[in-house]
Amino acid sequence: MPIVSVQDVTKTYASGFQALKGVNLEIDEGEILALLGPNGAGKTTLISSICGITRPSSGRILVGGHDVVTQYRQARRLIGLVPQELNLEPFAPVGPGVAFSRGLFGLRRDPARVEAVLRQLSLWEKRNARMRELSGGMKRRVLIAKALAHEPRVLFLDEPTAGVDVELRRDMWKVVAELKRQGVTIILTTHYIEEAEAIADRIGVIADGQILLVEEKAQLMARMGRKNLSVHLREPVAAIPAALAGYELELCNGGRTLIYSYDTKSDGTGITRLLSDLQAAGLSLRDLETRQSSLEDIFVDLVKERP
Ligand SMILES: Nc1ncnc2c1ncn2[C@@H]1O[C@H](COP(=O)(O)OP(=O)(O)OP(=O)(O)O)[C@@H](O)[C@H]1O
Ligand SMILES: [Mg+2]
Repeated sequence: MPIVSVQDVTKTYASGFQALKGVNLEIDEGEILALLGPNGAGKTTLISSICGITRPSSGRILVGGHDVVTQYRQARRLIGLVPQELNLEPFAPVGPGVAFSRGLFGLRRDPARVEAVLRQLSLWEKRNARMRELSGGMKRRVLIAKALAHEPRVLFLDEPTAGVDVELRRDMWKVVAELKRQGVTIILTTHYIEEAEAIADRIGVIADGQILLVEEKAQLMARMGRKNLSVHLREPVAAIPAALAGYELELCNGGRTLIYSYDTKSDGTGITRLLSDLQAAGLSLRDLETRQSSLEDIFVDLVKERP
């Protein structure tokens, strides 16, 4: 049974704006799912719906088998949420704040657990500091500590590394990897494709309130094992010569460039043959260039190709 199950969920805000247009998503226990999508795609709306903060207009969401609307308390107990907006009391002290978050779920005091969480997030030295004395990155880590205080099984991180420097971003990735080792299921949203590439087991792409793709990262990567060879010609041609009809070619740049797409993992790329066939067809080359397609290309294509 998936730990999170989102079934035909739509969300229309009071303004009449439809932010989710029939979302289906199943998340397995222990996985890291990265949701990629442009601003306004509906990522925060989806997460808020799963966490029971926003009420879906239709459809159903289960967390650990509990309906997030009719069994809110049972579902919410399993969830840790690090919201996109920093919402911390400026004068609240770090350590007691984390202990307090735990208490909100009706759990007994557990200083050892709170210490472990603070240490894991490198906040132990700052346990007596007040929020306003912390840097932005530390504040973000305090939010994670608060979200982990009640030992949730599913952790939602909404843009955990937005506006965070490279070093801290990598620290955050380590924290996520460590939580995964402990068996926590993690769903994070991000604009950073390299972040999804670095830490996710599965990647979902969402745009305009719809999930466009959810796929194992490894499979996506395999699809990305394609390269483009651009052949720049000395003289422009009006059309691809008939002799080259057997190749997967595209003519662009006013007939000056031929683009050949090939699979880097197949036995032969076909480049040698293509080049001699080009010559046989009477074309002379000015330059050659190859480019690896990336997750970014797939993402951009997906998001722009929609009607
Ligand atoms: N309370 C609200 N009332 C009306 N419209 C809203 C509300 N909250 C969000 N929206 C709209 O719903 C759409 C999706 O917003 P959402 O915050 O879910 O996007 P997002 O993918 O998280 O974007 P970002 O990457 O900028 O965080 C946007 O067009 C937004 O303006
Ligand atoms: Mg958002």
